[in-house]
Amino acid sequence: EKGGHEYFMLKEIEEQPDALANTLRGHFVDGRIVLDEQRVSDQDLRDVDKVFVVACGSAYHSGLVAKYAIEHWTRLPVEVELASEFRYRDPVLDRATLVVAVSQSGETADTLEAIRHARAQKARVLAVCNTNGAQIPRESDAVLYTHAGPEIGVASTKAFLAQIAANYLVGLAIAQARGTKYADEVAREFAELEAMPAAVKQVLSTVDTVRALGRELADSKAVLFLGRHVGYPVALEGALKLKELAYMHAEGFAAGELKHGPIALIEDGLPVVVVMPSPKGRAVLHAKLVSNISEIQARGARTIVIAEEGDETVRPFADELIEVPAVPTLLQPLVSTVPLQVLAAEIARARGYDVDKPRNLAKSVTVE
Ligand code: F6R
Repeated sequence: EKGGHEYFMLKEIEEQPDALANTLRGHFVDGRIVLDEQRVSDQDLRDVDKVFVVACGSAYHSGLVAKYAIEHWTRLPVEVELASEFRYRDPVLDRATLVVAVSQSGETADTLEAIRHARAQKARVLAVCNTNGAQIPRESDAVLYTHAGPEIGVASTKAFLAQIAANYLVGLAIAQARGTKYADEVAREFAELEAMPAAVKQVLSTVDTVRALGRELADSKAVLFLGRHVGYPVALEGALKLKELAYMHAEGFAAGELKHGPIALIEDGLPVVVVMPSPKGRAVLHAKLVSNISEIQARGARTIVIAEEGDETVRPFADELIEVPAVPTLLQPLVSTVPLQVLAAEIARARGYDVDKPRNLAKSVTVE
């Protein structure tokens, strides 16, 4: 059942191209993005004037990634909130608010309570969920299922990538309803998403060097992760994977914050993983990150750089270079997250831990 793999998680990492393809399938019909279930009118969707994404853990990170795309495509303000914080604040919600609840299990207590709170204030709720008929989609006005297949490993991998893709479909559906994207633009964005399973497959074919690096890093005390723009939530996700699997201190930072504190942590030999943007897509951000890497390298950090293949400018500053294929900027998290999953799993295995069942964690957190 593990398909020849030692752990479900390793099998699930390999399944990511299929998880993405299956999540996209059937959602672009006759030139339009379609959801799985829609119990609100198209007019209601058109009238949305604000979006909240509420979720926990990795699902929350998928929302942080999607914020960049949804704001860009829909020109609506998007706030991404931890479900456990959202429900105990007093968020400003009304019938023109769309709350997107992202949950693999569809049973996470905090996320469920967050949507109940939202619905009580007349907000519309759209669930992105990997489990058919779970409580969160049952209590939502619209549903888009991720078709990652059952995820057994406690640490989310293929469901996370599928959540990003599904969140993007939600963004395109809103853009289409509002007319902020023309039909041909929606079609082009969808086609770019459809190219991602092949890109992820390419990443998977090159991860042996990441595995070797993981074994080398097994005795590290801590690992830092830096990223900017969509690379920032990827850094957070890389750090979360490493904490939960390898029980190692790990933190993700927005690279622009480096000088505001985290640079004080840099010391000789500290591994720092940097998620680079494309040199072509975001030249300004790329240049700023190159400067960040040179600063931390000068202070003795061991730089582990995830960069687009052929990115020569970053090479002199990368003690270890992990190359990923060139893809559009907003889609980079789908390729750059994969080496971080592999890295965390390999460090954990080298430390002798069961990566399917990290200590103290449950697959579905049904208590608050
Ligand atoms: C991390 C992880 C958790 C879940 C979180 C939300 O690898 O698996 O952080 O992402 O508990 O779970 P769902 O998506 O089921 O609501």
